[in-house]
Amino acid sequence: MQRRALVVGNWKMNGSIGFAQTLAAAVSAGVAERQQSQTLHCDVILCPPFTALFAARSQMTAPHLFLGGQTMAEQANGPFTGEISGSMLEDAGCSHVILGHSERRTLFGENNALVARKMAAAFRVGLRPIVCLGETLAERNAKQTLEVIQSQLAALFGLLPTADPERSQWVLAYEPVWAIGTGCHATPDQIQEVHGFIREQLRAQVGATIASALQILYGGSVTPDNAAAIFAQPDVDGGLIGGASLKAEAFLAIVDAYPKKI
Ligand code: PGA
Repeated sequence: MQRRALVVGNWKMNGSIGFAQTLAAAVSAGVAERQQSQTLHCDVILCPPFTALFAARSQMTAPHLFLGGQTMAEQANGPFTGEISGSMLEDAGCSHVILGHSERRTLFGENNALVARKMAAAFRVGLRPIVCLGETLAERNAKQTLEVIQSQLAALFGLLPTADPERSQWVLAYEPVWAIGTGCHATPDQIQEVHGFIREQLRAQVGATIASALQILYGGSVTPDNAAAIFAQPDVDGGLIGGASLKAEAFLAIVDAYPKKI
């Protein structure tokens, strides 16, 4: 099954509105150029900080270029000071939202159950969740990687929508915590092992058709130098890029690393 690849830029808490506009415009121009020369083999999503979402959106004119939030509240609206709801993201132009990033899990106390509720809330407003999974270094060293991934996934399955078309409207991102922002990415073999395992779990839970349609991204120290080897793995459908997404040239080089899979 042919899956459309995705390359997602997670800008985290970086930059001003001006920076976001400049970066979004440069990425948009690069994506449009590749689209025109038929060398674009993936969709691209930019996830700026909340305050820059709308401004970044105004610069994004290329086809195949989408906007995403970096997290959202599980609630729809009301007295939740400081929170941003899914419908607010949608109103700002987002089609996607990253959920359960390990920084949210470790620094802001998000657990599997909360991530699952946020995923359900995203589905309710028509946003496509990009849900992050991944083990810590201690868990990998203790050979618990697959167990951790399995329990992170299990929490999600219970809250997936029941209608078939909606069940295929989410994206998973495998991001080993020890590889995020460290310059030490997982090897292509380690990545394929986990992605293959995730695909197997999906098959058992949502059926073979949906499992083979779902995109599974890798994230953690992806750079222009290592992207091609990672993207060449059969169950890798793109990347979630942090540091390297803050420079248009590096980010577009990663977009270029996505091979045309025939
Ligand atoms: P990194 O971050 O590319 O800087 O390692 C990835 C992420 O946190 O999504």
